[in-house]
Amino acid sequence: MSRKTYRVIQWATGVVGKTALRHFIENPAFELAGVLVTHPQKIGLDAGDIVGLPKTGVLATDDVEQIISLQADCVLFAPIVTNVDQICRLLRSGKNVASVAGPFSPQHHAEHFARIEAACREGNSSYHACGIHPGFSGDILPLTLTRLMNRVDHIQIYEFIDKLRNPMIYTEVMGFGRDPDALLAKPSRSPEAPFAFRQSMEMVAQGLGKTIEKVTTQLEVATATEDIPYSLGIGLPVSGTIRKGTVAGQHYEWTAWVDDKPLITYHFYWTMGEHVAPRWDIDSRYQVVIDGDPPIEVRLMSKPDSDGVRPFLGLPWTGLLGATALPALCEARPGVVTHLDLGVVQPVGLVR
Ligand SMILES: NC(=O)c1ccc[n+]([C@@H]2O[C@H](COP(=O)([O-])OP(=O)(O)OC[C@H]3O[C@@H](n4cnc5c(N)ncnc54)[C@H](OP(=O)(O)O)[C@@H]3O)[C@@H](O)[C@H]2O)c1
Repeated sequence: MSRKTYRVIQWATGVVGKTALRHFIENPAFELAGVLVTHPQKIGLDAGDIVGLPKTGVLATDDVEQIISLQADCVLFAPIVTNVDQICRLLRSGKNVASVAGPFSPQHHAEHFARIEAACREGNSSYHACGIHPGFSGDILPLTLTRLMNRVDHIQIYEFIDKLRNPMIYTEVMGFGRDPDALLAKPSRSPEAPFAFRQSMEMVAQGLGKTIEKVTTQLEVATATEDIPYSLGIGLPVSGTIRKGTVAGQHYEWTAWVDDKPLITYHFYWTMGEHVAPRWDIDSRYQVVIDGDPPIEVRLMSKPDSDGVRPFLGLPWTGLLGATALPALCEARPGVVTHLDLGVVQPVGLVR
């Protein structure tokens, strides 16, 4: 596997896509075949220019037909919203697709997965949905950690993001700045999001030989103690203000029950900085806490910046998790493959 080079297409160049594109240009195990963009100002740019690297000779295009007709082994699919039609066309054309945008959960998107399986059969190709969470932090990491244990009682995965320091496009969609009672009555996230994470929960339960009986959700909110100006992306200007008394923190809790007991709980603490009550932890990270014998706790975080604060690396990690899975995906059996199918992924070309 390590002597091969993999012809790769980068589909979309947002924060996640750019991290993967940089990797494909810098890692000699990959040969960049094409780059799909939607942003008019990126069309025709050299891929190297998009990520601040020397020119590659590969020009970004918005022409989907051209990208699908390229000869390539694999695609890192990273648009803002998924598109099952496009994924199936790529798969039917014989390209293996890792998607950080999903669909993730066969349990809730059976019709999508039936189409994806059929496209894989037609193209003799494989599909893998991945990322930091849903993905690595919520499935492979805790499942790997359970090998250090004699008995597992309750696996809890925490995502802490200070969204003021790590602004993302989802801030308004998530309901920050809304009236707390209105958000609690009609949460912005719960109807759809647990489904995206169900695949990871199922994988952990399956890996432990168990079946999930139900998933329950809870939401608590924190409010701004003063007006909080925010932007929707790193380096972007201020785009709005969270008014004092409105929602400035959200803690979603999704629990998978097995044998009438909670087995897996995902906690998401998303906070807009420090002026929030109650004041939750804003040291951005993933944290796995497993009760049992012996109990265990692991924190996954970046090194602190020069000011002592840790940036949240969830988006670049998502790009790298997709990129490093691609060689294994190219070697995998055709069809939908999860982390359980891929086993211990051996990334290629990282030591250079
Ligand atoms: N699984 C995980 O753990 C995980 C974690 C984080 C993010 N994600 C997912 O990863 C994906 C990318 O996230 P990101 O942070 O990189 O987002 P982003 O910075 O907003 O970039 C998304 C890119 O999608 C393209 N795009 C924009 N509008 C589009 C449209 N209408 N149709 C198709 N493409 C469009 C653009 O690409 P161009 O600029 O090239 O035109 C844009 O830069 C999202 O689906 C996100 O939900 C997954």
